[in-house]
Amino acid sequence: MRLGVNIDHVATLRQARRGRYPDPVIAASLAELGGADQITLHVREDRRHVNDRDLSLLRQTVNSSLNLEMAAVQGMLELALQTRPDSATLVPERREELTTEGGLDVSAHRDEIKHVTRALRDAGVEVSLFVDPDLEQIKASHRVDAQAVELHTGRYCEARNDRDRARELSRVVEAARAATKLGLRVAAGHGLDYWNVRPIARVDEITELNIGYAIVCRAVLVGFERAVRDMRDLIG
Ligand code: PXP
Repeated sequence: MRLGVNIDHVATLRQARRGRYPDPVIAASLAELGGADQITLHVREDRRHVNDRDLSLLRQTVNSSLNLEMAAVQGMLELALQTRPDSATLVPERREELTTEGGLDVSAHRDEIKHVTRALRDAGVEVSLFVDPDLEQIKASHRVDAQAVELHTGRYCEARNDRDRARELSRVVEAARAATKLGLRVAAGHGLDYWNVRPIARVDEITELNIGYAIVCRAVLVGFERAVRDMRDLIG
């Protein structure tokens, strides 16, 4: 299982005082030392946490793989084409949200998503779409030529009891199987932590997890490298 560590929340802490630290670029290096296979960051249109300076430095310093989460809009496409991350994950973006709240509605935004996907693929960037574990979204992702999907695990993570959790897990499993049958690589993420990650990590078709908040929170107490290593040990 590949582990992508999302470093946005390190930048959120820096922006709380609009200062120079903690630096997400240093956190990314420590995450790699702890065993991260990928560094993930979301450059938002309003640059509320990670900014262009971070993206440019990370492109120069990340040794593993750089995954840029971005909205499917022209300005972000231009930034991605300049920076050439190893992969891009297209996500929905609303300015007022605390974090990415739901998956992309791929059918409803088919033309924009297809245009951005094609342009990124032509530049050698692998394209993944962040979608809810929903068969229609998986099929639509395949139709717009994405190479991968990242399944939104938010509903699984927020389930309040075993029955709801089991139902949400089976949705993730079915979506992962359907995506694999269509030839899509499958990642998952959102809301995963040290307590809920294992059932998701055991899904054979899922080959990558992107985890941010839980790792950054643990890192405050035990250090970044150890927080990443603890997660690595759990997901196998
Ligand atoms: N994957 C995607 C596409 C996301 O938007 C986010 C949140 O930025 C994550 C993974 C990580 O979610 P969390 O911070 O809850 O681990």
